[in-house]
Amino acid sequence: MKSFPVHDASQGTADSLSDTPGVFETWAIKSEQLVNVALTDSVIKILDAFYHDRHYARFYVLETIARVPYFAFISVLHLYESFGWWRRADYLKVHFAESWNELHHLLIMEELGGNALWFDRLLAQHIAIFYYFMTVFMYALSPRMAYHFSECVEKHAYSTYDKFVKLHGDELKNLPAPEVAIKYYMGEDMYLFDEFQTARAPNTRRPQIENLYDVFLNIRDDEAEHCKTMKACQSHGNLQSPHSNPDYREDDSCTALPQTDCEGIVDCLKKSVTSQ
Ligand SMILES: [Fe+2]
Ligand SMILES: [Fe+2]
Repeated sequence: MKSFPVHDASQGTADSLSDTPGVFETWAIKSEQLVNVALTDSVIKILDAFYHDRHYARFYVLETIARVPYFAFISVLHLYESFGWWRRADYLKVHFAESWNELHHLLIMEELGGNALWFDRLLAQHIAIFYYFMTVFMYALSPRMAYHFSECVEKHAYSTYDKFVKLHGDELKNLPAPEVAIKYYMGEDMYLFDEFQTARAPNTRRPQIENLYDVFLNIRDDEAEHCKTMKACQSHGNLQSPHSNPDYREDDSCTALPQTDCEGIVDCLKKSVTSQ
């Protein structure tokens, strides 16, 4: 699998550095990651079997399920917020922006005809339902594991698009870009586009879309940004909206909110009991 430059979350904040994992935690992280890699490899094998040379249909399936984990994270965090266990606006904002970005990848694949066959729609939508409940369960048990699983999925998406643009680059340069891609990547309101890219400052990435090659190149680069964000999320409390990151922001006087948080359902229950 092709790799790409990724910010190492384990070298992130001073807080995360001070939390050196113990033997049990190291064992738990390794087990979670082994399960995630096995799960991802199984899904890739299914996709390879069905979509060996039907690229747009494969991308349609991938993008239908790509939005699901972000919706699942938001669902669980929303529930915690209702119980008063949690409040971290940055996580909700960033996960929604990630979901919005994946939605536009999906719309692009639909405009390219990837959803033409009923079988592909049926398969994608059923995987999406299963994936939603699985992610909700996994995220409630271990947000770190759920974020790592999403990192594996995003890494696979990056690698798939990277191979595609390298193999079909010349052909793609002669094809027009879908209208939805031009509107998304070159629109006037780029707030949500900047919001999901937590490893870079706002206004530092502005794609130019002239043909289908540019579209796929930017989708690939989006997947790399998702991967970096999912990696950062695995260190608890590490995620910051690019618009509220003190390294990037100019004035946060209107956006500062009281922050409480917890790390999965067990931690939430523990904190809600001990804080009363
Ligand atoms: Fe995507
Ligand atoms: Fe993705």
